[in-house]
Amino acid sequence: MSKKGFSIASLSHKYIMAAAGAFLMLFLVMHLATNLLLLAGDGGGTFAESVDFLLTSRLIKIMEYVLFGAFILHILLGVVIEIHNRRSRPVGYHVKPKSGTSAFSKFMFHSGIIIFIFLLLHLYHFFLVKLGFFPVYGDATEVHDFFPMVVYVFQSPWMVAIYIVSFIVLGFHLKHAFQSAFQSFGLNHDKYMPAIKTVGTIYAIAITIGFSVIPLYFYFIY
Ligand code: HEM
Repeated sequence: MSKKGFSIASLSHKYIMAAAGAFLMLFLVMHLATNLLLLAGDGGGTFAESVDFLLTSRLIKIMEYVLFGAFILHILLGVVIEIHNRRSRPVGYHVKPKSGTSAFSKFMFHSGIIIFIFLLLHLYHFFLVKLGFFPVYGDATEVHDFFPMVVYVFQSPWMVAIYIVSFIVLGFHLKHAFQSAFQSFGLNHDKYMPAIKTVGTIYAIAITIGFSVIPLYFYFIY
């Protein structure tokens, strides 16, 4: 491929990557809102109602496919961009780059790998049980009886620790991803960048703390 061809391709990679990432950031807000119902103190009643509603919604079914599509695109393009960045680095290059862009993309790639591993564990805990690939556990009687499964998972201090460490890594990934998405779409005007950075930081902290409260509640309080 010509140099120009490759740079057009990498530009569209960036757009698709940022669009998929933005969709995933919205998903996290929805997912957190639903999961916080686990803390309603009614034995999972309200949470189960919301799960029932989501299970019957055709729109949510379609969104689930879009969600997995977005995850796959985001991960694949992350790998493609990382390979491209490594190839364009000079061989035997040991000096720290001046701009810090390389260190930044390296951090995003590494934190992305940790989030990916977390996701595999997380899907094994809940989503793959729902699909019938693994038997239900804890006091659950049906595949979408998630409340007892959440109680069971977070009885283990290891799982609490793994989930919380993953949420912290996720928080750092999101903090950078938020401003990076704006940059990819060319919306990084000097005037608005400080505000975008602040909103991104607040978003990332809210996601990390919001999700972390759930394992801590089930381990220490429930
Ligand atoms: C303590 C925090 C969390 C809890 C209690 C939780 C709980 C759940 C449950 C019960 C399901 C099954 C829902 C269903 O399939 O209908 C699920 C699915 C899923 N979770 Fe989480 N989750 C948490 C954090 C996260 C985070 C941080 C991510 C992303 C990085 C994530 C990504 C997903 C995905 C992709 C699915 C499958 C798609 C879906 O069913 O919506 N979850 N989660």
